[in-house]
Amino acid sequence: MPPAPDIAPLVEGLHRLFQKSGHKAVARILENWPERGRADRAVPPRDLPVTAFLPEALGNAPKDTAPLVRELTGRAPHLHWRQTYSEDDLGADFLRLYGWTTMFGPDGYVDSDRLLSGFLFLGPGVEYPVHRHSAEEAYLVLSGEASWNIAGAGWQRRPAGTIVHNPPWQLHGMRTDRGQPLLIGYLWNAGTIEKSQIMG
Ligand SMILES: [Fe+2]
Repeated sequence: MPPAPDIAPLVEGLHRLFQKSGHKAVARILENWPERGRADRAVPPRDLPVTAFLPEALGNAPKDTAPLVRELTGRAPHLHWRQTYSEDDLGADFLRLYGWTTMFGPDGYVDSDRLLSGFLFLGPGVEYPVHRHSAEEAYLVLSGEASWNIAGAGWQRRPAGTIVHNPPWQLHGMRTDRGQPLLIGYLWNAGTIEKSQIMG
């Protein structure tokens, strides 16, 4: 197996940007942030088709988030990219344009049984349907103009730099309907991965 990628710049970048947001719920969630920022374990690389859009996400990233997006883009082929859904759930087109990679968590590079954190990525022209889950979650938009439907409020633009806080069971969905891929940093305030309920 190749050596574990140096994830420290990714972990530090996520922490810095979430902290800088000044968002109250985010500050509370960050109390569960694991202390170690270096890889505990080697995870075999697994690439997915969607990562081909990362250079485009880097090109669209604002000044604040671009350094982290650059670090991620450079390491992407060495990371383990995952999908929670199957073709039966959301179709083959969605799976070509969707993936995530976790830094912390039971299957991540760093063990954490309280908080999961990593990156979620959608290619352009896809809908992640409105869904919900029991875990509290915070998103930070790192790159990409997209439409968001939060708590049934209708589809609204959320530019890069935005925090989206989802309390347990809050409905949320995203559409990359503005021609740009959408890169998000996430904090999942629970120790286990959970498949969301898709509301359609
Ligand atoms: Fe979510």
